[in-house]
This record gives sequence, C-alpha cells and structure tokens, in this order.
Amino acid sequence: MLLNLSHVDISYQGSEKPTVQDVSLELAEGERLAIVGESGSGKTTVIRAVLGCLPGGGRVSGGSITFEGKNLLDLSVDGWQKIRGKDISMIFQDSGNMMNPVHTIGKQYVEYIRVHSDMSKKEAYDKAVELLTMMNLPNPENIMESYTFELSGGMRQRVGIAMAITFQPKLLLADEPTSALDVTTQAQIVGELMYISGTNAAMIIVTHNIGVASCLGDKLMVMQGGHVVEYGKTDDVLSHPKAEYTKTLLAAVPEIGGKRYV
Ligand SMILES: Nc1ncnc2c1ncn2[C@@H]1O[C@H](COP(=O)(O)OP(=O)(O)OP(=O)(O)O)[C@@H](O)[C@H]1O
Ligand SMILES: [Mg+2]
Repeated sequence: MLLNLSHVDISYQGSEKPTVQDVSLELAEGERLAIVGESGSGKTTVIRAVLGCLPGGGRVSGGSITFEGKNLLDLSVDGWQKIRGKDISMIFQDSGNMMNPVHTIGKQYVEYIRVHSDMSKKEAYDKAVELLTMMNLPNPENIMESYTFELSGGMRQRVGIAMAITFQPKLLLADEPTSALDVTTQAQIVGELMYISGTNAAMIIVTHNIGVASCLGDKLMVMQGGHVVEYGKTDDVLSHPKAEYTKTLLAAVPEIGGKRYV
C-alpha cells in the first residue's frame, strides 16, 4: 500500500477536541481518491496532514500515517525535505498565489528543480520547458519569461501542475485545483489531471464538485463536521449512499432520463 491513514485525529492549537476525527484511508499505487464535503468539514486539514504542513499549530494527535511503509509522523525536517515536492507534491487552488509575483516563472521553476536535484541551470530550464509543453501550454519559452500576473488562471494552474509533476511524484495532492476556474477551463484541467493519473501517480483530490469527484476518483470520501461519513469505491458510494448527507449531495445533481449525470 502506498499511503495508509489509520484512525487519524488532527488537532489545531486551542481546540479542545480534535478538529478532524478518526480518518482512515488506503491508497494503492496509481489509485485516485476524491474527497468531498461542505466547507469546514476538514478536507484541506486531511491532505495538509499527509503533506506534513498543517498551519496554526495543527498536529496529528492520534492514529498513524504511513507512506511506502514509512511512518510520516516520525520524519525529521531533513526526511521531509527529501519527500515533499518530489515523492509527494501538491497542487493548490490557485497556483499563482504560491509563486512569487516579482520573479519570472522560469526563475522560480528552475530554482525549484535545482533545490530537488543536481541538474545544471540549462538542464533544469530544458526540463521545465518540457513539462510546460506536456501541460499543453503554448510558447513555453515565453511563459518562462512571464510573471504570474501575466497569465490567465487556467495557465497558472497548468504551470502549478507542471511543477508538481516535475519529479514524477508517487502521490499528488490537489486542493480544489479547478474551483477558481471557469467551467470550460475546469474541464481542461480535469483532462490534464486524468492524463497525469495515467502516468501512475496516485492522487487525492479535494473538490466541492461531485461531478469532478466521480470523474477523477476510483474512491470517494465524504466528510462532514470533521468526520468521514462515507468512504469506498466511487461507484458503490454513488449507487448505495449510506449517509443522509451524501444522499443530499447527490440529490443536487441533475438526472437526465432517469440516469444521474455526475
Ligand atoms: N489554521 C487553522 N487554525 C485553527 N483551526 C483551523 C485552521 N485551519 C482550519 N481550521 C479549522 O479546521 C476545520 C476544517 O477546516 P478545513 O480548512 O480543513 O476545511 P475544508 O473542508 O477544507 O473547508 P473548505 O471547503 O472551506 O476549504 C474548520 O473548522 C476550521 O475552523
Ligand atoms: Mg479546504
């Protein structure tokens, strides 16, 4: 098993009981999990715990998280540096926000590659251009010279995805990667993510959109109020939802000719 969360509790500083309680999940190599749930249900908290970067004094206060059999909760700062951005990487809601507005994309991308590898500047540049091309970005050399504010949201997101997959991560975490985009661009980005998952990267994707979830996930988890209310194979969850909350979510999806199009 690539990733295993077993009865994980997550607490933020100052809160009496854990904000997220008793989350268990398993992800095999190349498998995709979508997490849906209302705002504040704990989705971001769960994937940030997997990446070992909880804000606000957050910590895993119970249970275990293992990646390739290694206990992530025991990792040193050095240990994390070897894994984060390489074996496990993350795509954010708006990748533009994660980048520095006063440096070109190329400068940041090359730097990112060189921090995680021993490539020369030239090799790193070529690698970056190769990845941008793979993400269907037109004129990748121009993009390398651009600043984040010069690109559209969809283009920035493609740059973010390109960076995240540079080192062919075994696990890709995506926190609402399409929700800042218009519907057409959303569909394109979902397409890019499908393509990536074909390269055998396992993926956890957080989304508000149950359509995106059903399209991108082999497994589906539904969270509510810091708890998992549903977890299983996507088809099983969608055809036999156990929790009332999931039924409500599904009821909001239009049915056409008796078939539900999610
Ligand atoms: N930095 C923090 N410090 C303290 N509490 C936090 C912090 N970040 C999140 N929380 C709390 O954790 C709970 C879950 O938040 P989280 O951001 O994981 O939800 P979410 O499901 O990702 O919501 P959204 O759909 O709005 O992104 C919330 O009740 C929130 O108040
Ligand atoms: Mg969130």
